[in-house]
Amino acid sequence: MSLRKPGGAVLVTGAAGYIGSHTVLALLREGHAVIALDDYSNAQRDVPTRVARLCAGDVQWVEADVRDQATVEAVLASQGVEAVIHFAARKSVEESCRLPLAYYDSNLIGTLRLLAAMEVSGVRRLVFSSSATVYDASQPSPVTETGRLSCASPYGRSKLMAEQIISDVVNSGRLDCVALRYFNPVGADASGKLGEDAATPPSNLMPRICLAAAGKSDPLQIFGNDYDTPDGTGVRDYVHVADVADAHVAALRYLAAGHGSAMLNIGTGCGTSVLQLLRTFTEVTGVDVPYTIEARRQGDVASLFADVSEARRMLDWSARRGLAEMCADAWRWARPDGDRALG
Ligand code: UD1
Repeated sequence: MSLRKPGGAVLVTGAAGYIGSHTVLALLREGHAVIALDDYSNAQRDVPTRVARLCAGDVQWVEADVRDQATVEAVLASQGVEAVIHFAARKSVEESCRLPLAYYDSNLIGTLRLLAAMEVSGVRRLVFSSSATVYDASQPSPVTETGRLSCASPYGRSKLMAEQIISDVVNSGRLDCVALRYFNPVGADASGKLGEDAATPPSNLMPRICLAAAGKSDPLQIFGNDYDTPDGTGVRDYVHVADVADAHVAALRYLAAGHGSAMLNIGTGCGTSVLQLLRTFTEVTGVDVPYTIEARRQGDVASLFADVSEARRMLDWSARRGLAEMCADAWRWARPDGDRALG
């Protein structure tokens, strides 16, 4: 018996990236047909094989840049696509300060061309990958979707501008969009066969914890222990990448039901400090993580976590996996003797 859902396929851009690949997997497990598009500029070429090992679903991989409007239009026209999930973007805050034009080109032009291709093809459902980086992080947490917006980097501004462009198209009556503002996605598929594997070295906390734990880097640098938080280290809202992926499936369901558009926080609603995360990591994995205390990182804030009541109310979605699972799954993927080998 086929598990394929009735209706058209879902086009996923940036499908081989970290959140993209876990979302492709979640869609396939739900019986969606998927067209998975990536240019592999910041993703590994073995991702399609990894996804295929985990789920024998209906997926077609297309190598293309989302800015190649003719190719995207051809894909949309030929495959009966009913919705698009748009991840394809550059995502490093630090790099965006050095290469702002590259960020606006990928993140804004990419979104514009995709929207134009969707309009030409008559596809009007979009799930957009946004970020909590659009919030003014100096405001008290938990932050709701109506919280103050302010971006400290070209990356953040590119996400906010893309949200605004999308919102103008929504207001013109040509598009329904659920934009998801992720807090701090971490972890990996529970199989240990799919995880975060960007081409560029990681700057985020969990992948750096894993590198230090594996002895593949210098000790973890903790950026500041003098913040106004319970233990002085930065507090964030870590959310399991599989829960983030499930939020996209829920967003598609919301769009298919004709509920219209929404802008939603995706997190757990819980703040966790760097030291708390390290402690949980060691408890769960049995591995000590060497660290040093360093000066604050420029642009960092003391505390940022989400109010997630809107996502629960509108999508009937909330994160199911806790901090222990996030650490266990991240390490199963990252540890040197782990399960990632395809064999
Ligand atoms: C960062 C980005 C943000 C992006 C998000 C998700 C910055 C300033 N912000 O957010 O725009 O949306 O990632 O990709 O880069 N930490 C350490 N040592 C490390 C790395 C991090 O102590 O080696 C601390 C940070 O100071 C922070 C916490 O860990 O308190 C989380 O850092 P990170 O994973 O980089 O996420 P954000 O700073 O929340």
